[in-house]
Amino acid sequence: MKLLLLGKDGQVGWQLQRSLAPHGEVVSFGHGECDLAQSSELRSLVRRVAPDVIVNAAAFTAVDRAEQEPEQAMLINAIAPGVLADEMALSGGLLIHYSTDYVFDGQKSGAYAEGDDPNPINVYGSSKLAGERAIWRSGAKAVVFRTSWVFGARGSNFVKTILRLAQERDSLDVVADQFGVPTPAALIATVTGVVLAMLRQGRQMGAGEQRIYHLSGAGRVSWHEFAQEIVFFAKAAGLGSAQKLQPDMIRAIPSEAYPTLAARPKNSRLDCSRLERDFDLLMPDWRPYLQRMMQLLILKQRGY
Ligand SMILES: NC(=O)c1ccc[n+]([C@@H]2O[C@H](COP(=O)([O-])OP(=O)(O)OC[C@H]3O[C@@H](n4cnc5c(N)ncnc54)[C@H](OP(=O)(O)O)[C@@H]3O)[C@@H](O)[C@H]2O)c1
Repeated sequence: MKLLLLGKDGQVGWQLQRSLAPHGEVVSFGHGECDLAQSSELRSLVRRVAPDVIVNAAAFTAVDRAEQEPEQAMLINAIAPGVLADEMALSGGLLIHYSTDYVFDGQKSGAYAEGDDPNPINVYGSSKLAGERAIWRSGAKAVVFRTSWVFGARGSNFVKTILRLAQERDSLDVVADQFGVPTPAALIATVTGVVLAMLRQGRQMGAGEQRIYHLSGAGRVSWHEFAQEIVFFAKAAGLGSAQKLQPDMIRAIPSEAYPTLAARPKNSRLDCSRLERDFDLLMPDWRPYLQRMMQLLILKQRGY
């Protein structure tokens, strides 16, 4: 089997390089080699590679910057997935794509299921929802995973930001009225590999069959609680020697006290039971992954 991986250097793409490897020949491209904003070049590249499966982990993920660059966000998050899907509809291949919890407005009190109506409240969420819809319109065989609050040792994310601030400051204000679930990039990649293996074995998808799954860690936290856990785990792992910040010096503030260009949903917890049921999986707690990330960062600090 031949797989085309796009966005290989992002948080998820980096982990996918590992989890897709046992499936066959993986042809991977990063931003430098393949610009998703260039639709005709993207189309030519797909035809040249002629993959059985495309896994698209490339995206415009800068949520605030998307408010200032909506055209670019739409090109990468909406038009490009549509091009990939059209190509897979023509060839009969499978498209695996990632979307976001930010397609929801956050008004629901419980976890969002796949059947809940999306209603994005920022440009990023709108562009990702437009990408989903372009995939559905294409008629391609496709699996879309909506995920949330991604973190890992590679790339930029909230954990890295808090670790940096913990060295610079002895107190910090973090928003406490937005709730969601942190999701390790490694978990997303592992689940993608497992789902692909199961689809290739007994649970094949028919031509044009399209599925959407919510994929996140288990549990629910606010950004404030997440920040406290990060500082706590960093100290416990021995990464905290350079930290001025103590977990109890992270103050809880409302969203209104931390204005951002893009509005964020107050609740974006995802209900993963469809994914768990269809593939006999159980979404794990994200904390052991956070612990492991700290260990990796320590090894990096020591030059291993
Ligand atoms: N990060 C999150 O918290 C989060 C939450 C929910 C859903 N998701 C979704 O999960 C998926 C993976 O996200 P991630 O966290 O791995 O994102 P990421 O770390 O930001 O990686 C995205 C990758 O896409 C690349 N990219 C950006 N513009 C591109 C372009 N025009 N052409 C080609 N590549 C381009 C980036 O390259 P450069 O860095 O060089 O620009 C980067 O390597 C995305 O679909 C995202 O929307 C992420």
